[in-house]
Amino acid sequence: MMTTLLSCGLWFLLGTQTLVAAEVAKPAATDPSKTQEFLKATPELLDMGKVVFAVHCVRCHGPEGRGDGVEETKLPVAPTNFRKVRMKYGDALESVVQTVAKGRSELVMPSFQGALSTKEIWAAAHFVKSLMPAKYD
Ligand code: HEC
Repeated sequence: MMTTLLSCGLWFLLGTQTLVAAEVAKPAATDPSKTQEFLKATPELLDMGKVVFAVHCVRCHGPEGRGDGVEETKLPVAPTNFRKVRMKYGDALESVVQTVAKGRSELVMPSFQGALSTKEIWAAAHFVKSLMPAKYD
């Protein structure tokens, strides 16, 4: 009886770990099948993105996204100025989402996959896009 219970528990544990592993391998934030509803920059997403940006991004990217946050001088890589510079990792919304979800430059630009929901990550990406110049020279 005890053995049966134990082995059930073991299978349960193994099962959960497999699920967790699958989640890590294919994070929801960058899985196109789970993000259709966030593709459009709705006023709701932009509002949410503004708040997420103020809370999580301003310390490095600055209040207006000019790369002049209070932590700028402490970092080995300069935070991007979204107003001027062409995006190093791509201008497309999906590229910005990838950066925010997974981080860049050995996580000097942190990964927000665990800290923010998928919706918040897409909202922040829409907000960053709204700061970028519509057209580059
Ligand atoms: C601890 C400081 C820090 C925080 C906090 C931070 N970033 Fe960054 N971010 C950076 C740095 C540094 C870079 C430049 C990385 C590089 O050039 O390789 C960067 C780059 C980026 C890029 C890529 C720009 C490009 O050229 O492709 C995006 C997009 C971005 N950050 C968005 C965000 C958003 C959105 C948040 C908040 C959710 C955020 N960052 C929070 C430091 C930070």
